[in-house]
Amino acid sequence: MQISISAELRQRFADAQRVLVLTGAGVSAESGVPTFRGGGGTAVWKGMPFEVISSGQMLERNLPAVWEWFDYRRGVLEALHPNPAHYEIARWQECFPEFTLVTQNVDGLHQKAGSQNVVELHGNVWRARCTVCRLGHDMSQSARPESCPGCGNALRPDVVLFGEMLPPGAYEFAASRAAQCDLCFVIGTSALVYPAAALPGVARSAGAYVCEVNPERTPLSDLCDEVITGKAGEVVPQIGL
Ligand code: OAD
Repeated sequence: MQISISAELRQRFADAQRVLVLTGAGVSAESGVPTFRGGGGTAVWKGMPFEVISSGQMLERNLPAVWEWFDYRRGVLEALHPNPAHYEIARWQECFPEFTLVTQNVDGLHQKAGSQNVVELHGNVWRARCTVCRLGHDMSQSARPESCPGCGNALRPDVVLFGEMLPPGAYEFAASRAAQCDLCFVIGTSALVYPAAALPGVARSAGAYVCEVNPERTPLSDLCDEVITGKAGEVVPQIGL
């Protein structure tokens, strides 16, 4: 597929000092991770829209059902691998004096591709945390424990559910980096979930050049300086060429 990247973007990429990348589910689509929205549809699991099963209310009402959904998602993710977009974004961390990767994804594929210091706005499905003492527990190498290894209370996925707050400080840190960046990429997000979707606007208001990569238009498209219509795995590796 012919992808058109402007000479201006190439120049800005070559000159950039501070780069911020915001990613969403679309960056993992070519790895086989289903997106939540897009293509005219939304995800449903056992007849429940994902906003219902992935909600703070459901966690309070039926924690086992929430675990069933996240256990299922980890099962799907286990066999999947990063795609060329994840690897290229990981390479970018070496290319600029300051680089910040902010993701809404909970799949851990950026880290698997080598990205470091990823700002995870919505948590990570490979971690559990205690509902009482908040102790975190890594599940990437081992099975999910029945209860908190520290205090014995119930564990929950370390993921932000609908109706819940973001991890303390995560958005504030991302917004401070957005306010200082000179180049911002928005890759594979429907830009419907706030506050993540506000970050490109913060960057734009501070004078950054903002570029969106998505096969579909989003509510942010009009705000962007450049919109590259295409799949992340095909477009992203071509940006820095
Ligand atoms: P969505 O599923 O809402 O949007 C996915 C976006 O990716 C859509 O705009 C698609 O057009 C685009 N897309 C699809 N395939 C693509 C590809 N190959 N390359 C690039 N883009 C592609 O996902 P998010 O915007 O990430 O929260 O959703 C935001 C949040 O809503 C998620 O983090 C999740 C959900 O509730 C939590 O799980 C806490």
